[in-house]
Amino acid sequence: MTGAAGVPNAGADELARLDEACFPAPERWSAAAWDGELRAGDRIIGVRRVGGRLVAAATVQVVAGDADLHRILVDPAHRGRGLARDLLTEMVDRASRRAGRMLLEVRPDNLAALALYRGAGFAVIARRASYYGPGVDALVMELALVSHPEGQAGKGADPRPDAGLSTGVCHAGGEPREETP
Ligand SMILES: CC(C)(COP(=O)(O)OP(=O)(O)OC[C@H]1O[C@@H](n2cnc3c(N)ncnc32)[C@H](O)[C@@H]1OP(=O)(O)O)[C@@H](O)C(=O)NCCC(=O)NCCS
Repeated sequence: MTGAAGVPNAGADELARLDEACFPAPERWSAAAWDGELRAGDRIIGVRRVGGRLVAAATVQVVAGDADLHRILVDPAHRGRGLARDLLTEMVDRASRRAGRMLLEVRPDNLAALALYRGAGFAVIARRASYYGPGVDALVMELALVSHPEGQAGKGADPRPDAGLSTGVCHAGGEPREETP
């Protein structure tokens, strides 16, 4: 669900309210953080509504042929009904027009998200020590976006585990960070 200019029919305040329902305090994004996502020119943002109410959202940043899944979240009252799978499919489809792979980072103990990503075809390619805080690692996952004519994942890419990865994907551990090229 997007508006005429590709901006979703959702405001930063209601996105922040959804975020508050989905994440514990230290991991929440404020309305200002969501406003930054909405205003950034390189994001792909998708939302889902039920009865007019915002119940799910996802945001992806596309930089230099890589799509980074910044966040995907579903209202707890609407989980387990395929909303995240559907939204992730939309994100992958839209990103595949502009990127060769999608990356994300996820806490190893976020079993629901891990199962969602694995089910969508993502594979773990690296582990970042203490990414979410002391002793809390992040798993880096990757999906080749095969419909992109220049899809590169797994095809001669730099074999180093962290090669070419940006520094702040799937920010389930706090406010979004801007990557430095
Ligand atoms: C992760 C999250 C987005 C899943 O949303 P959802 O709409 O309930 O997921 P779906 O109903 O689309 O389920 C898709 C798949 O995800 C996995 N999954 C979803 N919830 C799960 C759970 N509680 N336990 C295990 N696997 C789960 C399953 O593989 C499922 O496929 P299946 O139904 O064939 O088994 C949701 O739990 C959420 O918002 N969590 C908090 C925010 C978060 O951690 N986001 C990810 C990091 S940014």
